[in-house]
Amino acid sequence: MKIEYNKDLTRLNTFGMKVFCACYVEFDSVGELAEIYKDSSDNRFPHPFFHMGGGSNLLFTKDFPGTVFHSSIKFTNASSRSGQTSESSGSVFCEVGSGVLWDDFCGWCSQHGLWGPENLSGIPGEVGAAAVQNIGAYGVEAKDIIKEVKCFDVVTGEEKTLSVKDCRYGYRDSVFKDVAKGRYIVTSVLFGLSEEPAPRLEYGHVRNAVEEVVRSGPDRNLSPALVRKVILDIRHAKLPDPAVIGSAGSFFKNPVVPKSSYEFVENYAKGKYGKDYSVPHFDAGSGFIKIPAAWLIEQCGWKGYREGNVGVYEKQPLVIVNITGQATPEEVAALEYKIVISVQNRFGITLIPEVEHV
Ligand code: EPU
Repeated sequence: MKIEYNKDLTRLNTFGMKVFCACYVEFDSVGELAEIYKDSSDNRFPHPFFHMGGGSNLLFTKDFPGTVFHSSIKFTNASSRSGQTSESSGSVFCEVGSGVLWDDFCGWCSQHGLWGPENLSGIPGEVGAAAVQNIGAYGVEAKDIIKEVKCFDVVTGEEKTLSVKDCRYGYRDSVFKDVAKGRYIVTSVLFGLSEEPAPRLEYGHVRNAVEEVVRSGPDRNLSPALVRKVILDIRHAKLPDPAVIGSAGSFFKNPVVPKSSYEFVENYAKGKYGKDYSVPHFDAGSGFIKIPAAWLIEQCGWKGYREGNVGVYEKQPLVIVNITGQATPEEVAALEYKIVISVQNRFGITLIPEVEHV
């Protein structure tokens, strides 16, 4: 276990917020977690506790007075093949440590010709946080390939395995963010992958982009590696690279609203763009509609906006960026507030942040 005091977290959060924590601990086994939680008066670890993944979905709002924990549990173990399980032919189970970089796992799957996470390529963060957050992109969510999540239970001090059902996954949501918040620390995740072709190309223009690459060669085989490359190219064209410009990806969730709210927005848009215009939307079931937050924010004039060190990304207004690298949490929070208020005033819809505020 590695313990550091008064740790600068600037490089450990993709937003690049310059904040410190009183104590920072890297653990690499369940045994170390058990040792940490055994004695709540152990003064090596000041309270409160916070478990951080790759720091890619966080806004630190101030210095953290307690201990930040980070998993260094790193292994990728593809073992059980279908011949030995009840799964259909060609399926492969792969258990991955919570501290493995999510995109390293995606790259590993592609290299081994395994279908599953290729549409989720390029998402920053780590495997443990992916299971907590139910990350999603291009028509796929982590829950679609998760079979089980192994955790350390801070209440019992023991390991526990949650089935995908136990995790109660929803849109960017899970039991780990809801009723069991703070109880379970993810140590590894079991994924179900496929050796048989299982492309999911229905989102936006993904199919067209993939077919274009297959047509133009040199690689004419539809493979996980090919889809991964197409997805990475789409992401690079639309989203800021956290290594170059600080951000936490989508800052807000796409709001799911009652049909009447959507109709109000639709009327607004028809008044502005003409009667043939239709607001982008997705049926969320039970009379609810999901509207892209990016569209709502763009309508309020924020796309490409800049104020001091922060701004709204010019190619995807769902992303707040640390333009100069010098942004403070206060600047980000002020811009967030202005965006929320303006969308509320114009459309009567309250945007909820996807980014966790700490
Ligand atoms: N749009 C605009 N203006 C823009 C960009 C987008 O109006 O400048 C509208 C368009 O109608 C577009 C729609 O928003 O069709 C959807 O845009 P996009 O495909 O970029 O997806 P998103 O809904 O804005 C979500 C995820 C992203 C993920 C993409 C692709 C959330 C909160 N965000 O964004 O996830 O990469 O879909 O699947 O669900 C993240 O979570 O950090 C993240 C980047």
